[in-house]
Amino acid sequence: MGETANGPPTERRIVSRRTFLRLGCGILLSGAAASVLAPVYATRIEPRWLEVTRQDILLPDLPEALDGFTIVQLSDFHLGPHVSAEDVRRSVRITNALEADLVVLTGDFVYRSARYSTPCARELTSLQSRYGIYAVLGNHDVWTAPDEVAASLTEAGIVVLRNERQSLEVGGTRLWLLGI
Ligand SMILES: [Fe+2]
Repeated sequence: MGETANGPPTERRIVSRRTFLRLGCGILLSGAAASVLAPVYATRIEPRWLEVTRQDILLPDLPEALDGFTIVQLSDFHLGPHVSAEDVRRSVRITNALEADLVVLTGDFVYRSARYSTPCARELTSLQSRYGIYAVLGNHDVWTAPDEVAASLTEAGIVVLRNERQSLEVGGTRLWLLGI
């Protein structure tokens, strides 16, 4: 999916990430190209490949107030040498254009250094949603500096759930968020 200047993502997708990876795996398995192409993909292509995928979640006993409730999940920024603050800003712009009810951030904000936590959190302060922004830490955050990453996010107004729960009041019903 491409990004438009002032609207939601367009449908100009030529090939999905999944298809690309399937094709790529076939090529890589074919020989020595793996040693050259894999690092190029990992550092130059994949970090900038933003793709919006939509998933309907069907729950038979979902309260009516939550029917059509939209959640945007953003994950694995890995801000660092291969992902810039501008890359995170692009994700934020795309997310805000989706006008989600809720935004959840599922970890890996930094890449191997705590010094990336503040710049990452600074970009994420621009996220908008009706019911707030919630986060959990990822394995890379935990390996690097969990307390510093969590503090940066909290300072940016993001609620970090570390083995915690939080309930949201939505149209007279209650939605529980569990962060592990
Ligand atoms: Fe990750």
